[in-house]
Amino acid sequence: MKNIGILGGGQLGRMLLQAAANYPVQTFLMENDDHCPAAHLCHHFIKGDIKNFEDVYNFGKNLDAITIEIESVNVDALEKLESEGVKIYPKPAALKLIKNKILQKQFYKLNEIPTSEFIITQHAAELKEHINFLPAVHKIGEGGYDGKGVQLLKTKEDITKAFDEPAILEKLVTIKKEIAVIIGVADNGENALYPSIDMVFDQRLNLLDYQLSPADLSDKVLWKVEAIALKVVKDLKSPGIFAVELFVDMDDNVLVNETAPRVHNSGHHTIEANYSSQFDMLWRIILGYPLGNTQPILGAAIVNLIGEENYTGNAHYEGLEEILKIDNVFVHIYGKTQTKPGRKMGHVTILSNEKQELIHQANRIKHTLFVKTV
Ligand SMILES: Nc1ncnc2c1ncn2[C@@H]1O[C@H](COP(=O)(O)OP(=O)(O)OP(=O)(O)O)[C@@H](O)[C@H]1O
Ligand SMILES: [Mg+2]
Repeated sequence: MKNIGILGGGQLGRMLLQAAANYPVQTFLMENDDHCPAAHLCHHFIKGDIKNFEDVYNFGKNLDAITIEIESVNVDALEKLESEGVKIYPKPAALKLIKNKILQKQFYKLNEIPTSEFIITQHAAELKEHINFLPAVHKIGEGGYDGKGVQLLKTKEDITKAFDEPAILEKLVTIKKEIAVIIGVADNGENALYPSIDMVFDQRLNLLDYQLSPADLSDKVLWKVEAIALKVVKDLKSPGIFAVELFVDMDDNVLVNETAPRVHNSGHHTIEANYSSQFDMLWRIILGYPLGNTQPILGAAIVNLIGEENYTGNAHYEGLEEILKIDNVFVHIYGKTQTKPGRKMGHVTILSNEKQELIHQANRIKHTLFVKTV
């Protein structure tokens, strides 16, 4: 039986371990907090810092393969492990490129992958030289997540909000739709593409609001989206699972926003809605089994369960019983004991082939189910 490690024990690690239970595999998990969402689901929990070289190297040296649930891991340790024969999903070279938004944008440019125009900045003071480039979005090179580390700069007055660290200044795209495409890539380069997903955002929190699968796109735009997402993954030259986030602008141009080299929030519906989920797919890839079937069984929507404003403390899920009475609805609570405003606490998947029914139930859930405190 293979020994496989996961770096990071949040909800992605948790759902990955739920899928691992179906396969002959020994799982190892490293995370700082032994009460993290994934801790009780692995065979072997190792307490450690995923950003620390020694910790990651010692964790990995006797394993057959390692995967990640978050990009902020020690890539140098993964490179050393790879050179000693441990398989890493994604490859450290691909992870290094993606982890830093500056390198990631340069990678798109170098490979002629459409993406919004950009300028690299080192300090906030440089922004005054780029007033003509506004409106734009300033993004820190490393360490951003869930929209933190992303700042909209509309006018020259906004440049006081710029980041004083290496960052990219991207032209603001007038977005018609945000789309995500998940693709699994096997060791031999064979790939499996999931139907694209419509992501609808909450402007206020910059956090995902709800999403629909499959995305409602014309054939022509869908074709562009899939071709571009496949090119990103092909050029990354790494096995693993990838989520490519794209913008469709008002003229139906398709631009890559960013890529995640791991299982992704936009693919959680695949647990119930597709024959092989993104988590199942990653195990098939790591264990060297045939790729799974990405076809949808039914259309789906996902609503994220986010910690309510003004509630910090032991989580309580108000309205849960009412939601569980709906027969095409599936609840996933991530097992985080503490809630705080904006924290991702779970998600709800709705299944239906009717887009109107998906939107109706998504809104019903958003008005019924709340994460508050006991
Ligand atoms: N160039 C752009 N033009 C217009 N809107 C943008 C641009 N870049 C980012 N955004 C908006 O900001 C959101 C967050 O940006 P991005 O995905 O780069 O950040 P992130 O912190 O990695 O977010 P997450 O972890 O949620 O994916 C995007 O989903 C999009 O709505
Ligand atoms: Mg994003």
